[in-house]
Amino acid sequence: MNIVDIINKKRNNLELTKEELEYAFNGYMNKTVKDYQMSALLMAICINGLSDEEVFSLTDIFIRSGNTIDLSMIPGVKVDKHSTGGVGDKTTLVIAPIVASLGIKVPKMSGRGLGYTGGTIDKLESIPGLKVNLTKEEFLKELDSIGMVICSQTEALVPLDKEIYALRDVTATVESIPLIAVSIMSKKIASGADKILIDIKSGKGALIKNDTEAKILKDLMIRIGNKYNKEVRCIISNMDIPLGICVGNALEVAEAAEVLSGRIKNNLYDLCIDIASNMVSMAKEISIIDAREQVIEAIESKKAYNKFMEFIVYQKGNIEEMEISNNKLEIKSDKKGILTDIDAYKIGEVSCKLGSGRLSKDDVIDPAVGVFLNKQVGDSVELGDILCTLYYNKVKDDFDIIKAFSIQ
Ligand code: URA
Repeated sequence: MNIVDIINKKRNNLELTKEELEYAFNGYMNKTVKDYQMSALLMAICINGLSDEEVFSLTDIFIRSGNTIDLSMIPGVKVDKHSTGGVGDKTTLVIAPIVASLGIKVPKMSGRGLGYTGGTIDKLESIPGLKVNLTKEEFLKELDSIGMVICSQTEALVPLDKEIYALRDVTATVESIPLIAVSIMSKKIASGADKILIDIKSGKGALIKNDTEAKILKDLMIRIGNKYNKEVRCIISNMDIPLGICVGNALEVAEAAEVLSGRIKNNLYDLCIDIASNMVSMAKEISIIDAREQVIEAIESKKAYNKFMEFIVYQKGNIEEMEISNNKLEIKSDKKGILTDIDAYKIGEVSCKLGSGRLSKDDVIDPAVGVFLNKQVGDSVELGDILCTLYYNKVKDDFDIIKAFSIQ
C-alpha cells in the first residue's frame, strides 16, 4: 500500500477500504504521511465525498486514535449535545443546567473558538477562577454530584480530529459534510454519553449555508449514531442572524444567566427550549410536548438558574467578579424603517476584531469586549436610535458594523 495510490483512488472517486483509510490517517498521526499528502486526500474527499462505509470506518479510526470515556459507572441516562457553531451561540450554558436540573446527567466537553464563532470554554473563562481543565476523576465526580459538567476536551480524546481539523482549517476542506460528520460524531461517541443531540446551524453565519446540506448532515450523523447504538437527534436551526442579543464572552455568559432566570425570551430562549426539550424527551422517553412543559417549569421555578450557579461555584468560578468593559461605543441608525436583517457573520467579525475571538491559535482573548444588539430583527427604527453597542478595551473602532443592519 502507498499513500499516492490512495490519494489517486479517492481522486478518481473510488471507495477506499478501511485498511487504506487506516494507512492514510494513522500514518498522518505517526507522521509517515506528510501534510501535503493528507491535504491532497482531504481535498479529494471534499470534492468526491465518502460512502457510508467509508464514513463508518473513518469514524472508528478517529475514535481509536485516543482514549474513550466510560460513563457506565455513573447512574442514570447521560445526554450530550453539540452545536456546529455560530455567532452568539451560548446554548450550552443555558441547556446543560436546564436538563441537569431535571435529573438528567449532562457530560459536556467543549472546545475553544477559532475564527468568528467563540467556543464555550472561552466564554466560561470570562468567569474569574472557573476551572475548565478537569482530570477524568474530577469530571466523573462532578457529573455524579451535581448532574452536569462543562469542561475542556482532553487532549487524549480523538487526537486525530485535532490534527486533521487544524489541517482542514488551512486547506479549505472544513466544509465537507462527511468530514464534519466524522469529526463531530467521533468526539461525541468517545465522550461516552448514551444519547446525543446535535444542533446543526444553517445560514450565513454558519459552516452549513443551507437547509438541504443541513438535512444531509443530519441523516448521516443519525446513521453513524445507529452504528454505535446511540440515539441521535438533530435539530436544524437558523444562523442568518446572531443568536440572542450578545456576542462576546462575558456578555454571552451574562445573557445566558438572564435567559435561565426567565428574564429574556428571544430567539436564543426559543432555541434553548427546543434543544433542551429534545434532550429531556430522549432521556425520559416522553413526548416533546411533555418535555417542553418540564423545561419551561425548570426556568420559571429558577431550578435551572440555581443549577447554573451551583455548576459555576463547583468549578470554582466567581460570577460576581466577571467584568464587561466600561468603554462603550453606541452605533446609531442613519435611517428610519424596519430592521429586516442583522448579518451574523459581520457581527461576529467585528466582535472578534474587538478582541473577543482569535484569528490564529495563539491570539489572546479579551473576555470583557463584544457587541450588544439594542435592536432586533422586526423592530422599528427611528433616525438616531441605537442599533448596537460595542464594548471595547484596546481596540476602539466601529469596523463599519452599521453595514450589518438592513433597514427598510
Ligand atoms: N465542528 C466540529 O467539531 N468539527 C467539524 O468538522 C465542524 C464543526
